[in-house]
Amino acid sequence: MAQMLPKHKYTILTLLIFSLLLHGKSHKFSRTLSSKSLGFKKQKLSHLDFYFHDTVSGDHPTAVPVAEAAMSNTSPTKFGKTLMFDNPLTMDPEPSSKIVGRAQGMYASADSNEFGLLMVLNYVFTEGKYNGSTLSMIGRNPVTSPVREMPIVGGTGLFRFASGYALAKTHFLNTSSGDAIVNYNVYVFHY
Ligand SMILES: *[C@@H]1O[C@H](CO)[C@@H](O)[C@H](O)[C@H]1NC(C)=O
Ligand SMILES: *[C@@H]1O[C@H](CO)[C@@H](O)[C@H](O)[C@H]1NC(C)=O
Repeated sequence: MAQMLPKHKYTILTLLIFSLLLHGKSHKFSRTLSSKSLGFKKQKLSHLDFYFHDTVSGDHPTAVPVAEAAMSNTSPTKFGKTLMFDNPLTMDPEPSSKIVGRAQGMYASADSNEFGLLMVLNYVFTEGKYNGSTLSMIGRNPVTSPVREMPIVGGTGLFRFASGYALAKTHFLNTSSGDAIVNYNVYVFHY
């Protein structure tokens, strides 16, 4: 048959057979791996302690309203009002203290009876070995409670497979401007 076909047709035939063979071998959709094969050796528990600076007032707010419902302003809890933020995280409470990362996300008034925010955010760390790693948090923040607990649902970089919780405590609140400094203690299991 090879003699009967022109050379280019032979090449095409060969390619066709190869591609049939490749497609015939079924693609692996899932498989079991050992943790070590991806470099995950031992689970660790880490504690991070930092301050979240939420500035809503002035010329350079870091949290800005992006949405609200027609009834948000008449609701006692501003139900539906949503802010997007890119807030600095610092090592100490003073805004001028060392920056360890940023908190980027949204909070929205999700409770029509009492103050309760839905918070969805990523902590983007920039300090030391955590530079470039992130943690994702989603939870309910009853802002008037002394300590609010919110779940850490995942992470990237050094925080792959992260799961844990964050405890938020208001360190400073300016009741006239709404600006706040919140202490976060985050406890996470990761590898
Ligand atoms: C963090 O990583 C970025 C990008 O790799 C780099 O430009 C920056 O200097 C690093 N920051 C620190 C504090 O190491
Ligand atoms: C609180 O906010 C008001 C209004 O923006 C400002 O005049 C005042 O200096 C702030 N107080 C503190 C302690 O930051």
